[in-house]
Amino acid sequence: MEHIRNFCIIAHIDHGKSTLADRMLEYTGTVAITENQVLDSMDLERERGITIKSHAIQMEYKKDGQTYLLNLIDTPGHVDFSYEVSRSIAACEGALLVVDATQGVQAQTISNLYMAIDHDLEIIPVINKIDMPNAMPEEVEDEIVELIGCDREEIIRASGKTGEGVDKILEAIVNRTPAPVGDASQPLQALIFDSIFNPFRGIITICKIVNGTIHKGDKVKFVQTGMEYDADEVGVLRMQMEPQKSLSAGEVGYIISGIKEATEVKVGDTVTHMDNPCAKAISGFQEVKPMVFAGVYPIDPAEYENLRTSLEKLQLNDAALTFSPESSQALGFGFRCGFLGLLHMEIVQERLGREFNTEVITTVPNVSYMVHDKMGNKMEVHNPSGLPDATDIDYIEEPYIKANIITGADYYGPIVRLCLDKRGELLGQDYVSGNRIELRLLIPLGEIVIDFYDKLKSISKGYASFDYTIDSYKPSKLIKLDILLNGDPVDALSTLTHQDNAVAFGRRMCEKLKELIPRQQFDIAIQAAIGSKIVARETVKQLRKDVLAKCYGGDVSRKRKLLEKQKKGKKRMKQIGNVQVPQKAFLAVLKLD
Ligand code: GTP
Repeated sequence: MEHIRNFCIIAHIDHGKSTLADRMLEYTGTVAITENQVLDSMDLERERGITIKSHAIQMEYKKDGQTYLLNLIDTPGHVDFSYEVSRSIAACEGALLVVDATQGVQAQTISNLYMAIDHDLEIIPVINKIDMPNAMPEEVEDEIVELIGCDREEIIRASGKTGEGVDKILEAIVNRTPAPVGDASQPLQALIFDSIFNPFRGIITICKIVNGTIHKGDKVKFVQTGMEYDADEVGVLRMQMEPQKSLSAGEVGYIISGIKEATEVKVGDTVTHMDNPCAKAISGFQEVKPMVFAGVYPIDPAEYENLRTSLEKLQLNDAALTFSPESSQALGFGFRCGFLGLLHMEIVQERLGREFNTEVITTVPNVSYMVHDKMGNKMEVHNPSGLPDATDIDYIEEPYIKANIITGADYYGPIVRLCLDKRGELLGQDYVSGNRIELRLLIPLGEIVIDFYDKLKSISKGYASFDYTIDSYKPSKLIKLDILLNGDPVDALSTLTHQDNAVAFGRRMCEKLKELIPRQQFDIAIQAAIGSKIVARETVKQLRKDVLAKCYGGDVSRKRKLLEKQKKGKKRMKQIGNVQVPQKAFLAVLKLD
């Protein structure tokens, strides 16, 4: 055990974590030298250039005649996956803190660093991309010293591009990171920090053995889920899975036990033996709950079952995705899907699009609300149209996030104004360095879900970075705003909004919908209502749209083309009452100015 080092790399998105990891794998001869990124195995990850799922990989490193086993535990970089980051960190004794020499310390650098410090990891600071002409290693060193209070000499300068500094990083991992502690003779306690879906072998559990030893063939139990399995295979992760007879305290590896669904494996759970179980589970287990919800509906109702099959397939390797059937008067039968956050939602939508080659309509995302009724009951509501009658509601709570934003001082004013507009509260602020400031805020998640990222980016010309953690539910004065088309309420367009902004919001919704709903052969009244009270109204004027009138006379093929074009346009429309509503209209809220 004294020759094992378990470490992770923490960094802000795009600061070069995967590239540096690749150089380490090459340097240690774990992989042949390649141009490709090795750790990002999913296509989509590669395309987006972000690590969605964390994995672990083992390398051998020789120093002074001694072979060390280095387990690199890769962590996902995005906020939506922050619980996975925290469990990966919990499996390590050391962390490389990678900071881009051209960008300096950013929001996720700080939030991930705090997590690592919480778990008492040894921090090894690294400045990456020093090969770049606009690198500012001195300034970034200042920021790092300020942030973690280390000596300048402890900071390693490196380049994932040229490989410079990689030797120093490996040496520092061996010298500075403590070996794992644990007792192989104690009852088995293994921390699950990840899982991989394999179509042939089922769900592969990735874990760190904290205490005890697991042998191939052992009967094991997952403490939180209470499920029991046979450990058909145990082993370590190199470029391939390498089966072993056993794994002991301090080691990181995998267990295959014939699990078919990702939902059975919960990150943070403890694996133990059925006969001689450990006295208690590893602490800090937390059920990850989706916080953002949206409706997904097939445009063609006949595709409903097909959509369900696709969602089931996606869930096989994405335990964080939830879905349940729902029906909407406007959209028919579909599913309410739950996501960890916005990025997770985008990823699911994209994967759905790849597997499920039919047009779907997605509705505006909303957060999960806690509704307290006058009888003293509490319920979670995932859809504004699922709210009980207003007269029965005592009060509603909504989730808040703790956000940190790092920005240049120039953008400070506009960013604070944006956050206040979003019902945020400034908790504190600090200088990161010369003219960069870290802001700490409390903001309702519901406001972030709508268009916060885009606004923040455009206000700061792309320079502000942002990260958050879910804080808690707090009571809010939320009311339901309904939209009516020609007098009929359209449930899929209902939103929950803060009482003080509701009327103005209703007005903007009507204006936006007027732009988005095409003219049809009759007038369309668009109304916003709170309860039975109409608060805003717009009209889409009628138009006799006879496309064929434009083709004076005979050109048949041109006529057919025009008709086909019109048909295609219709496909992305949904008939509501007698009104054709385009997909864009269901996302109107996201487009409000
Ligand atoms: P996430 O997984 O999305 O968090 O990103 P990451 O931190 O793993 O960053 P990644 O390794 O994907 O690198 C981001 C970009 O920076 C890529 O285009 C890399 O080619 C580039 N890059 C990484 N390291 C260096 C470096 O040392 N020098 C230069 N010039 N470019 C680098």
